[in-house]
Amino acid sequence: MKNIIDVEVKTQNVDFGRCKTEMLGVGVFSDAKGLDKLCAALDRGLAGAVSRLIKLGDFKAKEAASAVVYTDGRIAAERLLLVGLGEKKKATVDTVRKAAAGAAKKAVEMKLKTLSLALHRAFTGRFEPAVMGRACAEGIYFGSYQYDEFVTETDNGRLDSLRAELVEPDLARAKRLGEGLASGVIIGKAQSYARTLSNRPGNVINPPALAAEAKKLARAAAGLSCTVLDEKQLAEMGMGGILAVGSGSQNKPRLIVLKHTPASKKANHLPAVAIVGKAITFDSGGINIKPTTLLDQMKLDKSGGIAVLGVMKAAAELKLPIKLYGIIPAAENLPSGSSYRPGDIVTTFSGKTVEVQNTDAEGRMILCDALSYAAKQDCDIIIDIATLTSACMIALGRYMAGLMGSDQKLMEQLQKAARQSGEKLWTMPSGDEYAEEMKSKIADLKNVGSKWGGACTAAAFLRQFVGEKKWAHLDIAGMDIIEKPTEFSAEGSSGFGVRLLTTYLMNLAG
Ligand code: BES
Ligand code: MN
Ligand code: ZN
Repeated sequence: MKNIIDVEVKTQNVDFGRCKTEMLGVGVFSDAKGLDKLCAALDRGLAGAVSRLIKLGDFKAKEAASAVVYTDGRIAAERLLLVGLGEKKKATVDTVRKAAAGAAKKAVEMKLKTLSLALHRAFTGRFEPAVMGRACAEGIYFGSYQYDEFVTETDNGRLDSLRAELVEPDLARAKRLGEGLASGVIIGKAQSYARTLSNRPGNVINPPALAAEAKKLARAAAGLSCTVLDEKQLAEMGMGGILAVGSGSQNKPRLIVLKHTPASKKANHLPAVAIVGKAITFDSGGINIKPTTLLDQMKLDKSGGIAVLGVMKAAAELKLPIKLYGIIPAAENLPSGSSYRPGDIVTTFSGKTVEVQNTDAEGRMILCDALSYAAKQDCDIIIDIATLTSACMIALGRYMAGLMGSDQKLMEQLQKAARQSGEKLWTMPSGDEYAEEMKSKIADLKNVGSKWGGACTAAAFLRQFVGEKKWAHLDIAGMDIIEKPTEFSAEGSSGFGVRLLTTYLMNLAG
């Protein structure tokens, strides 16, 4: 895969004023009384340019705000970038990550080739250097990401490489910052990889093409293996759900199964996890076709499955001592003469029959087979991730994903990972009331409930396929996309779930 901007991140053990770079980024809180030690020292070096800027009210240090100060050779950096951090008491690790993302995005827009960050300094005593190193690296990848692999103009003036570094004069701290940074680089790259795959359109990524990407990933990463079930094998196994959804397209469905087998013996004492991700490479709705306004973003309906690829890549590169399955049911939901229809009764891999009431509720039709398949593997925990329902988006907006599940501890661990990774979750119910709505009169289940609580009834449908396993479900509809560019990110796929689930797994590994 062509890397859009080749980003390299490392630590630099040098004094801030001596740091030779095109731009040095420092953080400022909006409610700070006066400049902190680092900013005050730089301000002195710059003959008061920083304090003047703040006094004039040109920079208020709100989150997402920034200002460039030209240094006229007074310090080694050519520019000083002041990055707003908002109110000090509201700051979290995600404040560090966003600040780094904002600075990286600025550097890319200004077409700079080098960026040095001392942002972590504003949070000294609050977060561990390793935690900040990781957040900064993740943020730098996130903020510098751009998707332009199909733009053919050669002289497009885009940046092709960015060298970023975290500056820290204290040797012991620089070392710990570097340790966190190393995992942040892996996670950041895995998220960018996921964003690029998700951003690729439906005519480029169809189920077989996605399976080929998964195979390629498994070849490149140590400890990963990949098997793919094609339409014939799916038929032999009785995976009626995946086959029904894929039946309308020339591009046949696949079940992609990745496995991460850790070298470390530690894995024997830790739970084994299966992560299952919905990959509808394009969701037209099928015979219940969607209106035009909803169709254009439906290439991103594969984002859950691709998040699984990103997590598997990160887990392998981090050498996590956890046995992991990555299971991706992939299909294209199109209307045609061979499509499945409303009214059809489908026999799923579990043996349960499902009455299809709406072909646009296809995510649960492929996930049910993949979840039953996961339940048969040697794992303790199943987590699925899917752009499943617009109801979830209506409930939570584009700020957080829905979290449902059957195991309190697992859900708490996911909430903790959400706080650490900045990929937020909100807990929602999926119990018996909701399951009741999914009963059919002519089959075991139907694929839609009543008008209300659509995210919860969808989850209640899924929970009937996980057997006795501990299970959690992430409904990421709405979180898969960044609709308009922000100060922290380009538009398009968000790669949501890669940081969250990798963080969960890292916590589990201890
Ligand atoms: N992929 C959609 C859900 C979705 C909608 C994701 C908008 C992102 C943005 C899913 O397959 C779907 O169409 N769900 C239906 C279910 C309904 C027919 C019960 C929905 O939510 O409208
Ligand atoms: Mn749909
Ligand atoms: Zn869908």
